[in-house]
Amino acid sequence: MVIETSSLGRRFGNSAAVEGVSISVGKGEVFGFLGPNGAGKTTTVRMLTCLISPSSGTATICGYDIRDRKSAALIRRRVGILTESPGFYETLTVRKNLRFFADLYHVDRRKANEAIERYLKLFGLYDKKDRVVGGFSKGMRQKLALIRCLMHEPEVLFLDEPTAGLDPESARVVRDAILSLKKEGRTIFLCTHNLDEAERLCDTVAIINRRILYAGSPGSLKDSVYGRKLVVRLEEVIPSVYKAVSHMSMVEAIEKNDDRIILQVSDPDRHCPDIINEIIRAGGRIRSVGELRHSMEDVYIKLIGDRCEL
Ligand SMILES: Nc1ncnc2c1ncn2[C@@H]1O[C@H](COP(=O)(O)OP(=O)(O)OP(=O)(O)O)[C@@H](O)[C@H]1O
Ligand SMILES: [Mg+2]
Repeated sequence: MVIETSSLGRRFGNSAAVEGVSISVGKGEVFGFLGPNGAGKTTTVRMLTCLISPSSGTATICGYDIRDRKSAALIRRRVGILTESPGFYETLTVRKNLRFFADLYHVDRRKANEAIERYLKLFGLYDKKDRVVGGFSKGMRQKLALIRCLMHEPEVLFLDEPTAGLDPESARVVRDAILSLKKEGRTIFLCTHNLDEAERLCDTVAIINRRILYAGSPGSLKDSVYGRKLVVRLEEVIPSVYKAVSHMSMVEAIEKNDDRIILQVSDPDRHCPDIINEIIRAGGRIRSVGELRHSMEDVYIKLIGDRCEL
């Protein structure tokens, strides 16, 4: 595992910002870290990148223990961090800013120039390379900050809200860039409030609210919260169809909505053909069959909401 934590926690004074976080992220995975404001996402990133120390638990990055002082330099060499509010030298050009950061990481000039050119092109900023950063918009700065954290070609990227405040087109450029970085085999830890983005980019998501509430694939998250539901649209929902279907053993719940019946079924892929046969046998005329899809937002709000009521 590239990132591995065990019961990681951090307190500030008397209050716990992060508690009992155990996660693991494999090479080349995009791991989405979701949670409300103040949930402990940035605090976790800061611990994992050795900017602050944990109050409890352990974690390793590329096999190096984050609590070990000697590891910190080795970890920093392997990770790139996009922070919540990156700063630049406002009076320097894009290229000079990037060269400055490449120098900090002791990247040699030729390699730095190659990386600068490649990433400026990837993020659509190449034509701005000789402009001073002072006049840059928020979106341009965000892209530049991403390029900056790639100067030393890190294996692991910690991206804290990389598309926050970007217009839809810029956000797409950044998301596509994240996917191409994943294709290169890099491991990406992505904090985001954009649930659609998490669903599109992440292999695994974890929802945190001081503690981890859920971790798994976006698809299994939806299934575990809502179950899978089949929607059968009929010419008319006649009583014989409703009765026949409600007696089937694999149907866990049934609801009628105008010309539709909505069925909660444990394994729709397996049982759908039998259910359709039964509806036809009972005299139903089917117009369409589909699956009820919940958005990531529905799932997130339900998970966070349920926990708040506890
Ligand atoms: N240096 C600090 N001193 C005291 N409390 C802190 C410090 N840093 C973070 N906290 C507290 O820890 C908790 C978690 O904050 P954190 O910044 O990790 O949340 P987050 O999930 O990144 O939120 P957001 O979505 O708003 O960025 C908050 O209650 C915050 O006030
Ligand atoms: Mg944060």
